[in-house]
Amino acid sequence: MNSKFTTQSFSKAKQKEEKITMLTAYDYSMAQIIDGSGIDAILVGDSLGMVMQGHDSTLEVTMDHMVYHCACVSRGVKHALVVGDMPFLSYHVSTEEAVRNAGRLIQEGKAGAVKLEGGKNMAGTVKAIVNAQIPVMGHIGLTPQSVNIFGGFKVQGKQEAKARALIEDALALEEAGVFSIVLEAVPEELARIITEKVSVPTIGIGAGRYCDGQILVINDILGAYSEFTPKFVKQYAHLNATITDAVGEYIQDVKSQKFPEKKHTYAMDESLLKKV
Ligand code: KIV
Repeated sequence: MNSKFTTQSFSKAKQKEEKITMLTAYDYSMAQIIDGSGIDAILVGDSLGMVMQGHDSTLEVTMDHMVYHCACVSRGVKHALVVGDMPFLSYHVSTEEAVRNAGRLIQEGKAGAVKLEGGKNMAGTVKAIVNAQIPVMGHIGLTPQSVNIFGGFKVQGKQEAKARALIEDALALEEAGVFSIVLEAVPEELARIITEKVSVPTIGIGAGRYCDGQILVINDILGAYSEFTPKFVKQYAHLNATITDAVGEYIQDVKSQKFPEKKHTYAMDESLLKKV
């Protein structure tokens, strides 16, 4: 728990068959709590477009947003590996732009690695970023930045051809030099095959029990995002209800003058008061 979790720790964990734990975070306070709880790695995900900014997809998120949130999270983290997500269009236009943007997440966001979506089609870009000495995490399956191609947030790899394509994607990413691959919303048995075929750890989200690690969105596990809860989420707290109750009590206290009490106030010297 004292030593830093690094990209090398990812591969050691796979060799030792120890499951890797990951969560998302977007701000300093939450990152500090999650890191203090002993999580292995924190993804500053572009899911912040939905859970922080209130958009219905991740497509509105920009590089500046990601750099800002990465820097906030990194300031709160001592142990976990911080992975900065590359937002839509930050790595699609040219390889040069991709390397420069990945570099911003490391240099300004203080992340230890970056993540990008795509398989075979992104292998060249992954290679170029890795050549710039920046560790890359891949992401295949339901890649949310492709929502308009998929026609919604749908499970991927259920047909034979698509399942084969996902296996090829994972192998291409491994070949390109990723240190790990996120598998999102794919059938459990397909995730198992991919996990067995690649030497780098797979991190599942809605990909079942056989991945080398798991990741979930922090707002989902805490019950703090009420728009939609995917089938693969397990809620460990119900913050929506807890916060609603707490805020309701605060409103009642202020209206009924139960808050603030004397102990919440600052005193002033009587003699000085007279002079005022
Ligand atoms: O943006 C994100 O939070 C993600 C995870 C859900 C894998 O990409």
